[in-house]
Amino acid sequence: METGKLTLALTKGRILKETLPLLARAGVEPLEDMSKSRKLVFPTTRADVQLVVMRGVDVPVYVRHGAADLGVVGKDTLLEQGSDGVYEPLDLGIAPCRLMTAAPLGFDWPPRRLRVATKFVNVSRDYFARRGVQVELIKLYGAMELAPAMQLADMIVDIVDTGNTLRANGMEPLDEIARVTSRLIVNKASLRSHHGAINHLIDAIAAAVTDLKRPL
Ligand code: PRP
Repeated sequence: METGKLTLALTKGRILKETLPLLARAGVEPLEDMSKSRKLVFPTTRADVQLVVMRGVDVPVYVRHGAADLGVVGKDTLLEQGSDGVYEPLDLGIAPCRLMTAAPLGFDWPPRRLRVATKFVNVSRDYFARRGVQVELIKLYGAMELAPAMQLADMIVDIVDTGNTLRANGMEPLDEIARVTSRLIVNKASLRSHHGAINHLIDAIAAAVTDLKRPL
């Protein structure tokens, strides 16, 4: 980065909560409580590292363009966006969940092209194409569980963690498409220009992952 600092883009929400203890263990702590601040840029206990927070879907965009040197983001987002311009050196093992197909209880295949609502249209296109199933994909940005209830779609492709959201909406998980955890990603050009500093940080975070490892 032009600032001379390494910028690490973090995914807000649950991933952020699980990322901060790892970073602290790696010697990188924000100078103020991120959960109590409306700020988006945070200096840290390491003068050469700053944190920025954003929606997960934007993390690979910042890292791909080099606006952030590193990022923490769910594998689901990486599968959907592809990994052009970024390396994925580390599985952080945090925020585990599954990318799944799901449908209302008692689902029957419709006598026409299956309609699938999802924000993961690329993953879904590949998944159904590999199975030779013709689908009409309907892109949504949230609350996928609403789509079958409103007859917008027959099936959804979404993240399942506890399964509570599906159950609460009369749905059940069907097939697992991918297991998901959060990953550390790095801009390829940054890695070349800040080789030493970035590898040092990756090593420290990798050690923190090992130290704090918990069973999935
Ligand atoms: C995800 C997903 C489901 C829910 C699943 O949404 O879209 O709605 O979590 O979790 P569960 O199986 O434990 O009920 P999230 O809260 O991450 O918000 P999002 O719509 O912004 O992805």
